[in-house]
Amino acid sequence: MTRDEAWNALALHPDPTLEELFAADPDRVDKLSTRLELRGGEAPLGIRFDWSKTHLTDTLLSEFEALAEACDFAGMRAKMFTGEVVNPTEGRAAEHTALRGVGKESSVEEAAALLERMKLMVEAIHGGVFGEVKHLIHVGIGGSALGPALAVDALTRDGAEVDVHVVSNIDGVALEAAFKACDPATTMLAVASKTFTTIETMTNATSALKWLADNGVDDPTGRVIALTAAPEKAVEWGVDETRILPFAESVGGRYSLWSSIGFPIAVALGYADFQAMLDGAAKVDEHFRDTDGRANLPLRAAFADLFYSRLEGAQTRAVFAYDERLRLLPDYLQQLEMESNGKSVNVDGLPTGPTAPITWGGVGTDAQHAVFQLLHQGTHLVPIDFIASIEPGDMLDAAHHHILLMNCFAQGAALMSGKHSDDPHRNYPGNRPSATILCDDIDAMTFGALIAFHEHRTFASGVMLGINPFDQFGVELGKEIAKKIEKGGERFDASTEALLKAAGVG
Ligand code: F6P
Repeated sequence: MTRDEAWNALALHPDPTLEELFAADPDRVDKLSTRLELRGGEAPLGIRFDWSKTHLTDTLLSEFEALAEACDFAGMRAKMFTGEVVNPTEGRAAEHTALRGVGKESSVEEAAALLERMKLMVEAIHGGVFGEVKHLIHVGIGGSALGPALAVDALTRDGAEVDVHVVSNIDGVALEAAFKACDPATTMLAVASKTFTTIETMTNATSALKWLADNGVDDPTGRVIALTAAPEKAVEWGVDETRILPFAESVGGRYSLWSSIGFPIAVALGYADFQAMLDGAAKVDEHFRDTDGRANLPLRAAFADLFYSRLEGAQTRAVFAYDERLRLLPDYLQQLEMESNGKSVNVDGLPTGPTAPITWGGVGTDAQHAVFQLLHQGTHLVPIDFIASIEPGDMLDAAHHHILLMNCFAQGAALMSGKHSDDPHRNYPGNRPSATILCDDIDAMTFGALIAFHEHRTFASGVMLGINPFDQFGVELGKEIAKKIEKGGERFDASTEALLKAAGVG
C-alpha cells in the first residue's frame, strides 16, 4: 500500500460519537489506556496514557498502522536510533536519544563523555571552585532556553542548589529583571547557543558581561560557561576552553535540553536529578524503539493527532497541565511541535496537505475560567491533552490537589458527554475529544519521560506526514531581513518603510 492509498482509506472513516464508541465497546478504556512503568520495585513510578476519549477505533488504529507501514515508520525510527541521516535537507542525524544512552554505540559513548564533562563542571560549581555561586543567569533562546526554563520551573519548587534565571528575549527588560534578582559577586553566566551566533543570545551575553564588570567583578569572562555545538566560536568570543561544554552537531536545538544546554537544570537540581531526567527519557526511548503499532504510546498519540488535524480539520490542539509546575509546558511544546512539523512541503519538496496544528494551552484550573467556554460551546474542533499528577506538588491541605484533579477529570467528562438543553444557550453538544496523561508524580524521571514522549510523538507525526521534522528554514527569512535593516541601504515595502521611519530605527 502507498502512503496516498493509506490516507485515502482513512478518509472514508465513519463518524460515531465518543459516547457511541464507549457504548459499543466495554473494553474501550483498557484498549486505549496504558500505563508506562518508569520504575518498578518498592517505589514504582509510572504514567497512564488514556486515549479512550478520542475517536480512535480498532478500525482506525489498524488503518493508521497501515499508514505507518506505508510510510516506513519502522525504517525511519531505526534510522533515527542508529544515527543515520533523518534530516536530509541539512544532511544530519538526530541523535538526542544518544544523550539518554539509547542510540548508535559510538554516539552514546561520545554523549556520555560530554555529559561527564558537564557533571564535573556542575560539581566544581557546587564545590566552590568558582567561589560562592548563588545565581546563574542562563542566556539562550528557542531550544537553548525553553527546555531549561521549563525544567527549572517545574522541578525546583522545593528549592534549588543555585538560583537560575533563564533569559531569552532581546528586549532588555528581560535581562534587567534577572540583574535585579541577582548579586553580581555571586553570579555565573551560562551562554547557551548551538551555533554561538544567535543575535539575541550574543547581545544578552555581552550585556551580562558588562553588568558583571560594571558591578566590580574582576574577571567577568572567567564567570562564563559556554554551552554550544560550535566550541571554536565560543573560543573566538573569549571563553576559555576549560569553560566550554560542547554538544554534538547532531543534537537539534529543540531536542537539546538533554545536552549541555541542560547545564542550568543540573546546576539547579544537582547532577543526580539531571541523570534521573535522562533515565526517564531513556525509558520512553526504549518503549518507542521496541514497541510496534498501536501499543507504541507516542505513535498512538500521533495517530490521534493526525486523525484530528488531517481528517477532521482541527487547526489547533490544546494542552492543559493541571499542575502549576508544568505551566511552561505549552511554550515548550509549541517550539517542539510547530518548529518541527509546521511545514508545507514533504521531504521531496512537494506540497503536502495540512501538517502540524497550532499548539496552544495553559494551566488548569486557570484556563477553565478563561478559554474553556470556546472549548465546550465554540465552533472549533480542538483536541485536548490533559496532564496531571496523582501526587500533589504542594504541602497545603489535601483539598487543593483533590479539587485540582476533580476539575481535570470533570472537564474531560463534560467535553465528551455534553449535556442536552432545549435552550440553545445552555446546550453542551459534547463529543469533544481529549486525552489524559496521568503521572504518579512530577519528578525528574517523570519529567524526562513526558518530554521524550512528546519528542517521539512529534517525530512519528512528521514521518507519517512525509515531512522532515528536523529542519526549520522558515525561521531564517525574518532574521535575514532584520540584518538587512540593521545594515541599511536597502528599501522595503511601503508599510515597513513607514514603520521604520516612525520608530526611528534602521
Ligand atoms: O530561530 C530558530 C532557532 O534556530 C531554533 O531552532 C533554535 O533553538 C534557536 O534558534 C536558537 O539557536 P542557537 O541555539 O543556535 O542560538
